[in-house]
Amino acid sequence: MRTRLAALALSGLAVLSVTSVAAGPATAQDNDRTAGAAAAGAARGHDELVVVGHRGASGYRPEHTLASYELAARMGADYIEPDLVTTKDGVLVARHEPEIGGTTDVAQRPEFADRRTTKVLDGEEVTGWFAEDFTLAELKTLRAKERIPDLRPNNTIYDGRYQIPTLQEIIDLSRRLSWQLHRRIGIYPETKHPTYFREQGLPLEPALVRTLNRNGLNHRHAKVYVQSFEVSNLEQLEHELRVPLVQLIGGSGAPYDFVAKGDPRTYDDLVTRAGLAEIARYADGIGPDKNRVIPRDEDGNLGEPTNLVADAHRFRLQVHPYTFRAENAFLPANLRSSADPAAWGDIFAEYEAFRAAGIDGVFADHPDIAVAAREER
Ligand code: G3P
Ligand code: CA
Repeated sequence: MRTRLAALALSGLAVLSVTSVAAGPATAQDNDRTAGAAAAGAARGHDELVVVGHRGASGYRPEHTLASYELAARMGADYIEPDLVTTKDGVLVARHEPEIGGTTDVAQRPEFADRRTTKVLDGEEVTGWFAEDFTLAELKTLRAKERIPDLRPNNTIYDGRYQIPTLQEIIDLSRRLSWQLHRRIGIYPETKHPTYFREQGLPLEPALVRTLNRNGLNHRHAKVYVQSFEVSNLEQLEHELRVPLVQLIGGSGAPYDFVAKGDPRTYDDLVTRAGLAEIARYADGIGPDKNRVIPRDEDGNLGEPTNLVADAHRFRLQVHPYTFRAENAFLPANLRSSADPAAWGDIFAEYEAFRAAGIDGVFADHPDIAVAAREER
């Protein structure tokens, strides 16, 4: 197991039998990275919630734009979260999925009409325009638009105003804002569909490692987390990165790399104690669908917490669930303010329940509310 067991022993918190976990000597790199995660925790205070601006401040601006990230930082987010895909020429850019028709004006660009195509993404047919079929120069001619205009109509006034940002531009922004705001703004990049991009001959990981190295961000004091819904790319990155890694855990289904190689394990298996022990060998935290922390009952109301947070903490895994959104459409039934899906409900009550469940951080579309909830407590 990675350093986390060494850290357990050192901290006097070794309260769980982990004899079933294959233990091995910690490497220097292991110690380096765990120290980094611990330092990040210490820096924010032991019970201080980490606020991640999910796709920036996507409740207020079209997601994954520099404007969205900047607003998140100015609202108090500790980290800004770019989801990463790649261009045809191998440049990492921020989009939630390879298909870019849902969040850009590409469909209105006649010069790109012939790029519309159908591909198989993680076993599903998807039709549209794909980031990896465009050079960076071509992508830069597009403009972002709001993904969910019915729920976030105010955001549509920004449609057509912002470019698709590169990871490098996001790092540059985080540096500028850190200087302006007198506090470090971290980045929390996610590798999107790693198996898919590898199959396209455009793997994300080498470019990510290169970019972090080039920017001096691959060390234990860097304010960086790297996350993935797949497992094997994190296992590989564990050997190349010193920053904390976070295993994302879907509400259902299985990591697509498992599916692709015929591994029958699912996300349900990853949240068992044995699964968490495995994750702790290569990662420093988990990012579960929030329903795995507090499921909803049969009426759609917020139910009772599971043991996931306690189990994860036994393996020194931080827990950063996703995604917290203020609109009724995303809230448990008992916290909605009305039948209007776009109106905001009692997200403060949701935050309170999740904080009581012991989580360490949140992915928030409205980072200002997450920060306000943190300050209230
Ligand atoms: O990365 C945490 C959360 O963002 C995962 O969900 O689909 O919004 O990337 P998604
Ligand atoms: Ca994400």
